[in-house]
Amino acid sequence: MKAVILVGGLGTRLRPLTCNTPKPMIPLVNQPFIESMLIRLRDQGIDEVVLAVQYLADRFHTALGDGSRLNMKLHIIKEDEPRGTAGAVKNVEHLLDDTTFVFNGDVMTDLDLQAMLAYHREKQSKVTISLTPVDDPTQFGLVEMHKDNRVHRFLEKPRAEDITTNLINAGTYIIEPEVLRYVPPSQFYMFERGLFPVMLQTGDPMFGFPSRAYWTDIGKPQTYLDVHHDILIGKVRYNFRGQQIADRVWLEGDADIHSSAQVVGPVVIGRGVKIGRGARVIGPTVLGDGCQIGADAALEGVVLWDGNEIGEGATLRNCVLGRNNRIGAKTMITDGSIIGDDCSLGPENRLEHGIRIWPGTSLGERAISF
Ligand code: GTP
Repeated sequence: MKAVILVGGLGTRLRPLTCNTPKPMIPLVNQPFIESMLIRLRDQGIDEVVLAVQYLADRFHTALGDGSRLNMKLHIIKEDEPRGTAGAVKNVEHLLDDTTFVFNGDVMTDLDLQAMLAYHREKQSKVTISLTPVDDPTQFGLVEMHKDNRVHRFLEKPRAEDITTNLINAGTYIIEPEVLRYVPPSQFYMFERGLFPVMLQTGDPMFGFPSRAYWTDIGKPQTYLDVHHDILIGKVRYNFRGQQIADRVWLEGDADIHSSAQVVGPVVIGRGVKIGRGARVIGPTVLGDGCQIGADAALEGVVLWDGNEIGEGATLRNCVLGRNNRIGAKTMITDGSIIGDDCSLGPENRLEHGIRIWPGTSLGERAISF
């Protein structure tokens, strides 16, 4: 079975984490998100995948090659310029010969793909769209269906009084390649605003597949933190790497944890991590490879990518740090704040209220109180 994964977007909402790293390559629990997604697809019977890449395309080649490391066949195809979601699939049409899954490359879900495929076949659908319920539909594109689940209308970000359903497009599709004849070649073209509305007019069968499977778009800072939280507390099935050394504390390699440090799960600790005297690391937290946590630092609900040095007595709460940052003593980073890569923040800064610090930033002592 074949699939196309759309991984060419700029990931603007997740900047500065996506300045140097394309969104599907950002780590999820210390593993590139796309890698865990490929493993999930492989384990559900998809053995050949086309990655439709554009932004920072080389990063995919370097990390994934031809897919043999993951026991699957991988084609990495770069668009000359962004083609949009449907245009990106059109661009790889020559590799598709049969019913094909298409995935947004930024969705964490445990959807049952074989059940969706059986449904697509039973309905003799040309396009099947996975749907998920949300609490506040005003921020999303809604999909209205007839009683038999045939799609009859798309509603983009409706006003509260216009809401007729809470089901939204969940970013997993099954398509028959013949529908790509409606997509103009070499142009920017979207599913939601292009192909799907056209198919409503042509009358080709297009069905929704509602499901209560776990679903989160990892593409916003808070949802990126939320999905870590959900994985660590066991809300979604996940194969943790490494060994469990205490109640919900996983160690991925060697670590040097001071006997007076406190680690309260769920916490994942990468290879070569050092946790200093009196430091407190409270879950749900992920520490990337080579992170060094200074004495008496306090971390709670944070995601640190590889190579971060956290100074003595620093406080980090509900925040994300990219790679290789140096955080000064007694600096405080909280409230959904995001630090890019290679930053050097001096002692006693206060970064709160979701502040975003761009890669390579240097701050002196007490330079920011935000
Ligand atoms: P934002 O800039 O934060 O909106 O993120 P994004 O650029 O990833 O856009 P969005 O979340 O809407 O994209 C949904 C999925 O489609 C993501 O997996 C993107 O990587 C992918 N995608 C969006 N536009 C393109 C494109 O032009 N080409 C390809 N190949 N993929 C795309």
